[in-house]
Amino acid sequence: MITALVPGSFDPPTNGHLDVVERCVGIFDRVVVAVIRNPAKTPLFTADEREELLRACCAKWDNVEIDSFDGLLVDYAEEVGAQTIVKGLRAVTDFDYEIQMAQMNRHLSGIVTLFVATKPEFGYLSSSLIKQVAALGGSIDSLVPDVVAAALEERFR
Ligand code: PNS
Repeated sequence: MITALVPGSFDPPTNGHLDVVERCVGIFDRVVVAVIRNPAKTPLFTADEREELLRACCAKWDNVEIDSFDGLLVDYAEEVGAQTIVKGLRAVTDFDYEIQMAQMNRHLSGIVTLFVATKPEFGYLSSSLIKQVAALGGSIDSLVPDVVAAALEERFR
């Protein structure tokens, strides 16, 4: 049984994140999507809210579990029995930071990180931009799941 861990801030989840999870659903036996409880920046949504949004977005997939974690990612990966960490790569700009994290995580525990190329149409998507556009009243409807669009509308109303 191969378990993939898809970690992130998910503040909020976007269609780009879900595209990565969907790729994993078809490849791995079990997919754990885990929200970091204390990201570097103050999040718009609490960890519980981010988990709840992900649960709503991923309910259609039987082999996906939603959770949250604190502390080192590699410790959490061991706790949930994940053999691999999966991250999405949008463009070359993601690569520098992602390769550093992948190599540090490998140094710490030997865990393998796999990268999924995101769909080109989601290449420009980021949670930060989504929040900025939503805060200023722009349409984010085709960029995030409906449940996320509704949560953003409520938060910025
Ligand atoms: O969605 P993000 O913000 O790109 O996710 C980053 C995340 C949560 C994967 C990363 O910050 C992380 O793994 N944090 C846990 C702390 C840790 O293990 N740090 C060392 C990693 S090299």
